Amino acid sequence: MNWKVISLAVLFVGAFLFGCESDDEESHTHSHTHEQDVPKEYADRVNPFDGNAAAVAAGEQLFKTHCASCHGNTGKGNGPKAPATIPDWTIETDILTASDGMLYWHVAEGLTGTAMPAWKTTLSQDEIWQVIAYIRTL
Ligand code: HEC
Repeated sequence: MNWKVISLAVLFVGAFLFGCESDDEESHTHSHTHEQDVPKEYADRVNPFDGNAAAVAAGEQLFKTHCASCHGNTGKGNGPKAPATIPDWTIETDILTASDGMLYWHVAEGLTGTAMPAWKTTLSQDEIWQVIAYIRTL
């Protein structure tokens, strides 16, 4: 191996390690997704019930039935089945202001590798939007 090959190898390994380090910045106690990560099929969805009082009331009931065991009645993440890493939405408020598409995606598909289940086979599309309308009021 001549010096050129060796220095190239060092550069390559260095770039690889640097790449991993910059990924680590994102690894907090729970996964953070960004608006640009939302899949195309979900990104442009808009809640047809936004601010609709009847939908908020229906969403509150659905939330208490299906979600509060982990997220708590008010999104504080203090339900009896909550893992320690679950975020408190009243502190991590970026969740409450995420786009409709982002919230729909997380609720419909769940979060792989976490306790967050996928709801698209349990809840209808309208029910998911009702739950999201309720989440917006937290
Ligand atoms: C068995 C526990 C459990 C249940 C039940 C549950 N979730 Fe979650 N959910 C989680 C956990 C844990 C996370 C956080 C995952 C992470 O980022 O580490 C999460 C994340 C989320 C997120 C993404 C934002 C965030 O906090 O990271 C939304 C939105 C969400 N849940 C909505 C719901 C809704 C709506 C329901 C009911 C239809 C529900 N969840 C039911 C455990 C649960």
